[in-house]
Amino acid sequence: MLTVDRMRSLVRQATLSPSSHNTQPWRFRMTGAAVDLMADRTRALPVNDPFDRELTISCGAALLSLRVAAAAAGLGTVEHLLPDESDADWLARLELTAQASDPELAALADFLSLRRTFRRVFDGRDVAQEVIALVGAAAAREGARLVTLNAGQRQQAGELVAEGDRQQWDDPRWRRELAMWMHPRRDGDGLAVPLLAAPLAQAVVRTFDMGNGVAAKDRQLLMGSPWLTILATPQDDTLSWLRAGQALQRALLVGCRHGLQASYLNQPAELPALRARLQLLLGTAEHPQLVIRWGHPTEVLPPAPRRPVDAVIEPASD
Ligand SMILES: Cc1cc2nc3c(=O)[nH]c(=O)nc-3n(C[C@H](O)[C@H](O)[C@H](O)COP(=O)(O)O)c2cc1C
Repeated sequence: MLTVDRMRSLVRQATLSPSSHNTQPWRFRMTGAAVDLMADRTRALPVNDPFDRELTISCGAALLSLRVAAAAAGLGTVEHLLPDESDADWLARLELTAQASDPELAALADFLSLRRTFRRVFDGRDVAQEVIALVGAAAAREGARLVTLNAGQRQQAGELVAEGDRQQWDDPRWRRELAMWMHPRRDGDGLAVPLLAAPLAQAVVRTFDMGNGVAAKDRQLLMGSPWLTILATPQDDTLSWLRAGQALQRALLVGCRHGLQASYLNQPAELPALRARLQLLLGTAEHPQLVIRWGHPTEVLPPAPRRPVDAVIEPASD
């Protein structure tokens, strides 16, 4: 029996997923024995992400988490992506069934709450080849490819990230949008800043172009990352972005299970001219979606804030 409490528990676990600027751009609706996932475009980032590409990837990550939580609760699932072409916000329906649950997904449930975006320097250990293979296979299961960058590609990616930082910080609209998502932790979303420091931090970001400094730091982080990848998809449409999000979260959870955390250097995938150069660097016709660095974290970070589960659940329409 699927009680409301059980459904809420599944949704709560889905809300632990990563999202661009921690916007948590998702809504859930419980309809009979299914959970619907909708895009919440009031939480979009029109400057950073004008086509809602990253917004859709974030929702895809939440969908994968929902599947993991359902599997851990002993439920089978059937997913329908983009179930109604007349409703662009309705991204997926996840039917919950009495069929056997997927043991591989169920085994990832403990890592939903342990995964973190780790933006600091990783410890010096390499990532084992077996782990690289497992994380790559996790992404492939969801229809995306995690491409490992070799030394030459890494160098070029470092230049593109630095160029991306300079261009984004040079844009006052981009800085203002970032500042709007820098909140004290108690707000439940955004990039948490200590309560007293928040007004100053927001003013600094809004006012000063720190592009050169950020570029140098990000380049250094990228060059020193034990494992550097691009998540790529064969197409570049809403369906591909949903799949990329599921691939991202599956890969992150498998990585976490093997002691890894990750963070992002997506700047070159966010700016069209640089994205074309990132695609050239890949050397295939695939579309780069995210630039992800991986390694062993040096410490356990506190979780990023999340909105209460009731803020993301809507009443059933039927
Ligand atoms: C599609 C997507 C894009 C992201 N882009 C960046 C990024 O460019 N830089 C960054 O530091 N974090 C990025 N993040 C990570 C989010 O900021 C992070 O998920 C959010 O703050 C919540 O923190 P958590 O992942 O530790 O739960 C991205 C996450 C997603 C899903």
